[in-house]
Amino acid sequence: MTKKTIAVLPGDGIGPEVTRAAIQVLENIARLHDHEFVFKEGLIGGSAIDEKGGPLPLETKEISAASDGILLGAVGGPKWDRLPGANRPEKGLLEIRKALDLYANLRPVKTYSALIESSPLKKEIVADVDFVIIRELTGGLYFGEPKKREEIDGETQAVDTLLYKESEIKRIAERAFQAARVREGKVVSVDKANVLESSRLWRETVDDVHDSYSDVELSHMLVDNAAMQLIAQPTSFDVIVTENTFGDILSDEASMLTGSLGLLPSASMGSTGVGLYEPVHGSAPDIAGENRANPLAAISSAAMMLKYGFGMEKEAEQIEAAIEKVLAEGYRTSDIAAKTDDAVTTTEMTDAVVKALE
Ligand code: NAD
Ligand code: IPM
Ligand code: MN
Repeated sequence: MTKKTIAVLPGDGIGPEVTRAAIQVLENIARLHDHEFVFKEGLIGGSAIDEKGGPLPLETKEISAASDGILLGAVGGPKWDRLPGANRPEKGLLEIRKALDLYANLRPVKTYSALIESSPLKKEIVADVDFVIIRELTGGLYFGEPKKREEIDGETQAVDTLLYKESEIKRIAERAFQAARVREGKVVSVDKANVLESSRLWRETVDDVHDSYSDVELSHMLVDNAAMQLIAQPTSFDVIVTENTFGDILSDEASMLTGSLGLLPSASMGSTGVGLYEPVHGSAPDIAGENRANPLAAISSAAMMLKYGFGMEKEAEQIEAAIEKVLAEGYRTSDIAAKTDDAVTTTEMTDAVVKALE
């Protein structure tokens, strides 16, 4: 029996709905394999602002740092959209990523054969798509200083800073080459080196790191072209490594290859050993509270926790197989259903996955 403590941070909007689904699946995995998972819940985001006055209470940080893995739902929503940057729900997520040094965000993009028809793109384009975006998560525009507003010459101006240190680029490049070694051995590094100085340092540093990984094929691509190539020939990609903002945008774009943002999981890992696992999607205020959200991104994120966080490869595969089975059987939440009348609810989809585990 293996005992693991899991910090659960449901957050806002559909966050609690999809996190509940992931926990239900994990509880059943624990039962089937005689593991013990202890869940410790913490507040984050808007719900933490409402109850504790800030988006990342100390208690949440402590529960998270002491856990073996963190399962997060989503943060944010219209209720908190007018708060200043430092006290927004999203700040809680950025702060926990930074506090735990979770610099490597893995966002796998893989089409399910049962869902080929759910993508808005042609099936010849999306069949067999299988790549991973490795997004740098603790640097770049999100964290660079200065980040502020000021009054200059009688008008307001705002500044964000796109800053990368060589060491930050080096460690994410290493992750990318290591990931490629156990995949197809191809890395595309995405930047904007024709314009941005930080991208020129990015490109040079990735090239330097590549010297130690000459068995891996490396190419560089400008981000505007990459946005296009992702749609034109998505099967050409294996590992994409890129900075924080580009990775954020490209991953939402890439979700459309699979059919829905509600399918994409992610794992954020760093130097401390504790990882954070969360869907790529947000709190989806437009469908929150309706039992309509697709729980599969959160459930897959839990599978990533088992695989990358706990070394429970077999259990993770069991979850992935259960997801494939329910999709093949025709279960569709409204985001992937051909007709909304045929759609199942969040809880029905979750129950089906649990049943398929057996
Ligand atoms: P979003 O990802 O919440 O939603 C975008 C669209 O995708 C919406 O139409 C939504 O209904 C749909 N969608 C998302 N997840 C879904 C799911 N599981 N099932 C079915 N449909 C799904 O992005 P947004 O609307 O731009 O942002 C809403 C809020 O979420 C904002 O406050 C934003 O800051 C926050 N956000 C949080 C995270 C996070 O916590 N990691 C990520 C992205 C956005
Ligand atoms: C994501 C989200 C976050 C990000 C926001 C909510 C801070 O969009 O995880 O992709 O931009 O990183
Ligand atoms: Mn995003």
